[in-house]
Amino acid sequence: VLLILGVMLAGCAQQEEKVATPTPAPEKAAKQKVELNLVNPGKLAVGSDVAYPPFEYTNQTTGKYEGFDMDLAKEIAKRLGLELEVVNTAWDGIIPGLLAHKYDVIMSAMTITEERAKQVSFSDPYFEAKQVILAKKGSGIRGVSDLAGKKVGVQLGTTGDFAAQKLIENGIKFELIKFEDTPSALMAIEKGDIDAAIIDNFVAYLAQKNNPDVFEIIEDKTFEPEYYGIAVNKDNPALLEAINKVLKEMKEDGTYDKIYRKWFGE
Ligand code: ARG
Repeated sequence: VLLILGVMLAGCAQQEEKVATPTPAPEKAAKQKVELNLVNPGKLAVGSDVAYPPFEYTNQTTGKYEGFDMDLAKEIAKRLGLELEVVNTAWDGIIPGLLAHKYDVIMSAMTITEERAKQVSFSDPYFEAKQVILAKKGSGIRGVSDLAGKKVGVQLGTTGDFAAQKLIENGIKFELIKFEDTPSALMAIEKGDIDAAIIDNFVAYLAQKNNPDVFEIIEDKTFEPEYYGIAVNKDNPALLEAINKVLKEMKEDGTYDKIYRKWFGE
């Protein structure tokens, strides 16, 4: 035991010495191989609830995962010199899965929130979104107050869920129905089981575009802007820093815009 202690102390002494040495010049530091602490060495494992087009979904023909987040993830992995591995994960439990090191990051159109930031670190924001009401066409809903008395769906544990709860707290009385995933909520509108859903705007826009006879979108000024971020474990600041660095590079060299235009147009 003493021997081990001795080795450990020696280790500490060495560490201290390192801290004392002057920081290397920036170009030197950039070349240094940083320890990213990945779940599987050489791979970037991305947790995502792959049922959220156009951000992440399965191409029914090829079986491959596609979407804005998936393209972004591919590019990030490439720039970090890593192979991309997407771990399809239920939304409910996606943060616990990160904390349990089932994957290295979450890329799942996840909104940066104060509550979530207590558990995980977020990258710089990479997308601006907001909530909208997606209703059955002809619903007569024109704003949040018209949700009173209606059946309103959300995906459990999303910012749509939180926004709906806030509306209820503010006195708009409706029946809140929580779905495990977003496609189920959309299906329920289509079948007439619920009147509307509160979901992220670009997911609603796509659903409405694909089914203009089924859906209508109602925007309401009371929904605040949200920003998507990539969630990283708090114990992995090196990975967070590396991701922010490549995100910044992608924004600067036009790659981000190219991917954005591919999915959302001009
Ligand atoms: N932006 C919303 C949130 O962070 C919804 C994200 C849902 N993402 C998904 N892949 N199902 O709560």
